[in-house]
Parts: sequence; structure tokens; C-alpha cells
Amino acid sequence: MKPIELKPGIYWVGAIDWAVRDFHGYVTPNGTTYNNYLVLDEQVTLLDTVKHDFSDVTIRNIRHLVDPAEIKHIVINHIENDHVTSIAEIMHMTPNATIHISEKGKKGLDRFFDTSGWRVNIVKTGDTLRIGKRTLLFLETPMLHWPDSMMTYVREDRILISQDAFGQHYASAARFDDEFISCFSAAELNDAVIDYYANILMPFGTLIKTKIAEVEKLGLEIDMIAPDHGIIWRKDPSNILRMYLDMANGKADLRVAIIYDTMWHSTERMTVPLMQGIKDEEVDVKVVKLRANPISLAVKEFWKARGCLIGSPTLNNGMFPTVAQFLTYLKGLRPKNRLVGAFGSYGWMGGAVSSIYKELEKMGLAIVEDGVQVVYKPSPEDERRCYDFGREFAKKVKEYHETFQ
Ligand code: FEO
Repeated sequence: MKPIELKPGIYWVGAIDWAVRDFHGYVTPNGTTYNNYLVLDEQVTLLDTVKHDFSDVTIRNIRHLVDPAEIKHIVINHIENDHVTSIAEIMHMTPNATIHISEKGKKGLDRFFDTSGWRVNIVKTGDTLRIGKRTLLFLETPMLHWPDSMMTYVREDRILISQDAFGQHYASAARFDDEFISCFSAAELNDAVIDYYANILMPFGTLIKTKIAEVEKLGLEIDMIAPDHGIIWRKDPSNILRMYLDMANGKADLRVAIIYDTMWHSTERMTVPLMQGIKDEEVDVKVVKLRANPISLAVKEFWKARGCLIGSPTLNNGMFPTVAQFLTYLKGLRPKNRLVGAFGSYGWMGGAVSSIYKELEKMGLAIVEDGVQVVYKPSPEDERRCYDFGREFAKKVKEYHETFQ
């Protein structure tokens, strides 16, 4: 790779990770990128670093433009490992640089690295740094998605370096939204945004609204939003802001996700009449078998749909383990604004469906009770009950969806 110019004097100097498929448990079928940015001004400034495996890549990109020893400032917007673990190597090359970081970021930095001898400046929202012709403005965004998180706004160029927010896990040759859309499609890009939001930012919808309002209140004009993963938004940055606000406000498609697992195909066979009942109410359906798909994909499909039916066979009086795992992950993401129900099969004693309902209640989601259950194998009568339940569920999803219009 080589540096890519965002605006005169501002460059992407990051790395593309084509191969990563397990991103701390989140499956990334399209890989990811670690974006960081170099500003060539009177005082050369590096905004973020990359994952340690790619230290040599970013250093080579920086060297294309400048001797790393000339870097005067390094802004660390977030201390998670994928963005900070090449800092020690970079500091070794530019020992006189000052690191600018939030207070909580500094605490984390001290835990991850031996920072003795490093010059560190703690910044907070509203603080600025003049680096020559340009001014950097810092905006703390705690819990978006770590306590230390912040963003940096390059005032004269109207670029928001947004860290994890507005990112996507997608490795491609495209660096910008318009490039990606002409190569692939807007739908594929939107899907990558939703996947990332659902799996990382779902718990923080209220904070997202507050922060976007804060940016608006500060009157920041934004020409470009440059996240630390995936493509950079330059075609229409307001589009991604709108998309985030919509998701934070509970936007979903009029659709039902059927998310299930099965032992001997009985629960699986229930999905077909359920699907047919939903479809006959003219509601779209997506069916996801947990054991056949990454859990992160199931969460994305859950998030896209207004309604979700979760199915499990009974195993040892409870849920099948993959279903329990899915619900544990989902609960941590604090989902809202979705209508849910359950279904399942059992042999001599049930337990899975009631266990699913207990978990759904703990999440505080809107619930359709009395999920359909079958013994051993669905009979034609059982299939009729599944169809009816699917149809009734779809009707309720439509009513519930209306409340968001
Ligand atoms: Fe991409 Fe929170 O790290």
C-alpha cells in the first residue's frame, strides 16, 4: 500500500487486514482495515496507530511522506489493541513526540505500555491543538465504545476522525465511500455499517444521539468522516450520521428473523410453516441457523428485523447451548425496540421455550407469549399450529412496527 490523500496534506497511512476472520470473537468475513492518518503541517501529527501486526505497514506508509522522527504530535483517540498496539514501536522512532489522549485513555496506556519517558498531554472536550495552519479540536466520546474513546476534528479541513464510530469491518481496495459504491454497491456498504453497529454499538444508541447533537451544537461543518475501520465517508457524510441516528432511534425493517438451532431437525422443521405464516402476512423473513452461522451474523439479522422468533430444542431441561450463547451475547448488547417470541421442540419434558422467554424478559423486549412447542416431531397438526403462530406473530410485528413510523 501507499498513503492515500484525503485532502491536501492529510493522508491515510493505515493497513488493510484481508485475512482476519476472528475479531475478538466477532466474525469478520470481509476482513477489516486499521485506519490512521498523518497530517503534514508545520508540526507533523499522527492521528491514531494500528494493530501491532501491521506496525511495519503504517511505518512504511509514514516513511513515504516524512521521516517518522519528525512527528511532533500523536493523537490516540482510543486505546483498544487494534488501534494502539503499534505505539511503542512508533514512539521508539519519534521519542520527542507528545501524545494527546483523554484522561481515561492515559490510564489504559499506562497499563498496556511502559510510558515512563513518554510525553503525554491529557485532553478533554473543547481542547484544541494548533499544529501550524491547522487546528485540532478534541471531542471526548466516553463509552462510544470504551471509556477512553474520543474523536478529533481537523477544523480547517472539516474532517472528523471518528475512531470506531461510523466504521465497518471491511477490507477492500476502496478507501472512500464513492469508490466502494462504484466497485460494489451502496447496499453492501450499508450492510457492513449495520453489522458493525449491531455488534459493537447497539448498547450505545442514547449516547450516539447525545454526541451527534453535541457535534451539531458545536456547529462543526463536516466534509468528511474518517473512521478507524473501513471506508472513509466523503461523498455525503450526512448520510452516515442519518443512518446512525435512525438506528439509535430504533429503525428496523418490517421483517422477522427466525434464529434457531436444532438437534434432530424437529425445531428446524418448525421454521418452514412459521416462515410461511409470516410470509402470508406479507412480512419479509430471514432464517438463521445458529450452528451454521457466526453469532455476529445472527445479531446483525436480529437487528435488521422488527421481530424475532428464537427456536430451540430442549436439552437437559433447558436451551440448546448455541441458543443460550446467542441470548447471552444479545443481552450484553442491550437490544431495544424489537418484538420477540420463542418456539421449540422437546421429547419427554420441555424447558427450552420457557428458558428463552425468561431471558427475553430480562432484556426488557416486547414479547409475544405462548410460543409454539411440539413433542418429538412436528405432525401435520403441529405444522398448522406453527403456521398460525407465525401468522399471528407477523400481525403483531406489523402493529408494533407502525408505532415507529
Ligand atoms: Fe476498533 Fe474499539 O477498537
